[in-house]
Amino acid sequence: MSIIAVWCRHKDDNIIGIGEKIPWYIPSDLQRFKRITIEKNIVVGRKTYESFPNRTLPKRKMFILTKDVTYEPSDANNHYTVKDMKKLKSVEDDLYIAGGASIYAKFLSKAQFMPDVIVDSVFLGDLEDLDGKTVDISASVEIMEKKYFKLSDTYIEDNVETSIWIKKSDFVDQNLVKNIIATIENK
Ligand SMILES: NC(=O)c1ccc[n+]([C@@H]2O[C@H](COP(=O)([O-])OP(=O)(O)OC[C@H]3O[C@@H](n4cnc5c(N)ncnc54)[C@H](OP(=O)(O)O)[C@@H]3O)[C@@H](O)[C@H]2O)c1
Repeated sequence: MSIIAVWCRHKDDNIIGIGEKIPWYIPSDLQRFKRITIEKNIVVGRKTYESFPNRTLPKRKMFILTKDVTYEPSDANNHYTVKDMKKLKSVEDDLYIAGGASIYAKFLSKAQFMPDVIVDSVFLGDLEDLDGKTVDISASVEIMEKKYFKLSDTYIEDNVETSIWIKKSDFVDQNLVKNIIATIENK
């Protein structure tokens, strides 16, 4: 099983959300996220799960981290609640970590969960003026910059620059990396 983190952060301040929302709307970024995660297993925190329309993303299995043992997902056949992230180690298929900030931080800070690959998209434009607390992933980006190396190619589309980062000194499945690159390039 490989672990892949996928995010889109704002340049310089690493903001990924304000309140429950993402403070930009870039359809091509959403489409790239969809292409990368379609038919895959994704892992999200409860707050991010609740930010999805109707608490779902079609054609994906979802593991929702929550301490609330009574929490009822919107789709009992494809969405599973997880109280203890160690349980995710028994999942055989690849896991795509899709936020929010608390979940990226947990995966990046624990050796046994550290993603093999990070798809790092950076929004270069201005943030929408939304009400709410800003949510940033600076702690996770700092770990990425120390413990990962960046592949030289970057992909720019609609003011979003995407790079792939690979965990240093570890075996990373080259087919997985090739597939992610092809998916980003939309080939
Ligand atoms: N730009 C992007 O790429 C991107 C991606 C995803 C999300 N976002 C944004 O990020 C923001 C949400 O991020 P967030 O950090 O505030 O919330 P979050 O990570 O989505 O969810 C936090 C919740 O996850 C649960 N949780 C966290 N760690 C856990 C653990 N170790 N075990 C069990 N449950 C755990 C807890 O749920 P309970 O309280 O139920 O126990 C916690 O309240 C929103 O603004 C969203 O739009 C942006």
